[in-house]
Amino acid sequence: MSGHVIPPHGGKLVNRILEPAAAASLAKEAASLPVVNLSAKQACDLEMIAIGAFSPLTGFVGKADFESICTSMRLADGTLWPLPITLAVDDETRSGLSEGSRAALVHPDGTLLAVIDVHEIYPHDKTLEVPNVFRTEDPAHPGAKAVLDEGDWLVGGPVEVITVTPERDLAEQFPERRLPPARTRAAFEQRGWSSVVAFQTRNPIHRAHEYLTKCALEICDGLLIHPLVGETKPGDIPADVRMACYTTIIDKYYVADRTMLTVMPAAMRYAGPREAVLHAIVRQNYGCSHFIVGRDHAGVGDYYGTYDAQLIFDDIPADALAITPLKFEHAAWCNACEGMTSAKTCPHGGDEKIFLSGTKVRELLGRGERPPMEFSRPEVADVLIEWATNEVAASS
Ligand code: ADX
Repeated sequence: MSGHVIPPHGGKLVNRILEPAAAASLAKEAASLPVVNLSAKQACDLEMIAIGAFSPLTGFVGKADFESICTSMRLADGTLWPLPITLAVDDETRSGLSEGSRAALVHPDGTLLAVIDVHEIYPHDKTLEVPNVFRTEDPAHPGAKAVLDEGDWLVGGPVEVITVTPERDLAEQFPERRLPPARTRAAFEQRGWSSVVAFQTRNPIHRAHEYLTKCALEICDGLLIHPLVGETKPGDIPADVRMACYTTIIDKYYVADRTMLTVMPAAMRYAGPREAVLHAIVRQNYGCSHFIVGRDHAGVGDYYGTYDAQLIFDDIPADALAITPLKFEHAAWCNACEGMTSAKTCPHGGDEKIFLSGTKVRELLGRGERPPMEFSRPEVADVLIEWATNEVAASS
């Protein structure tokens, strides 16, 4: 049966989480090690490495990989890899570390998570990273800003992980939906799915999203709705609210036997095209054969062209990436067609289309009004109205 599921990127699924006995003894050792306090983004990256979602990475990248990723979207050994997964530290933390030693990695809430073998400490070349990764140097870009605000040193080396989810947070972190790649792979096999399309999202599922996922499902055995629930920018809808939207719409409008909902604990970088490639690689690691890339995937503001995140796949040689991107044009409801459409399928003009900006939707929800059903399913709108009206009440 195992032949059915796509191989992981780089050939081998990584697992850096120790068995309980080894974890307990490492936790004792860690008590005497220098400490690196992780940011929320770094804790997300650590979890992604630990569970094999970032296979073939076994830790935070060293200098040769960092430079090669920034300049040519490859690891130093030639494997396709679009974003540097780095452990940035400030001068003070750096002064407590030395190459060849080890350090404890601690969650923002104080929980000991892992130990890193410090193979390398090297200057954080933000002038190389930011323009290459984000295609802008504008410090207002949220992903670029996160990098610019980080420490000026990078620590590279493999990690051994004691735990990925601090226990006190478990209730908020959807433990039953937090399936690592090994478990989604097993679930696909058990369901007999030989082709699975993954849908990345950081928003509630509106009609356009629903359309893409259902079009894709017409040509695949199964659909993995795979929301990103790691660190996002202020203003994005919180993951717990989105999860309520996802379960609501799936229960009412999707076929249970064909649809799975699990979460991806990654941080959002808003790096548009390069992040789309990372999102695809990660979903391959989770066992998916196809990946939806729509309009302005992983974009923010107007930093990227509408289809830049699709075009980047055209430059990737076939032998560098096994997962297949499924590219979708901007989709919207058309009143004349009485259905979801795109420019590929509908001859009518913009005046027949229902387009709503995020700001407009927020305004409606905040006033307790549902956006039109051509934009959002009413059941999803109701979940969002409850959240938005509570938010408005809390902030006034
Ligand atoms: S993203 O940051 O995860 O890309 P979002 O949750 O809005 O943001 O999008 C999820 C996926 O749906 C992405 O592939 C995006 O390109 C696609 N998408 C969102 N809205 C549309 C739309 N109206 N038409 C086509 N694709 C869309």
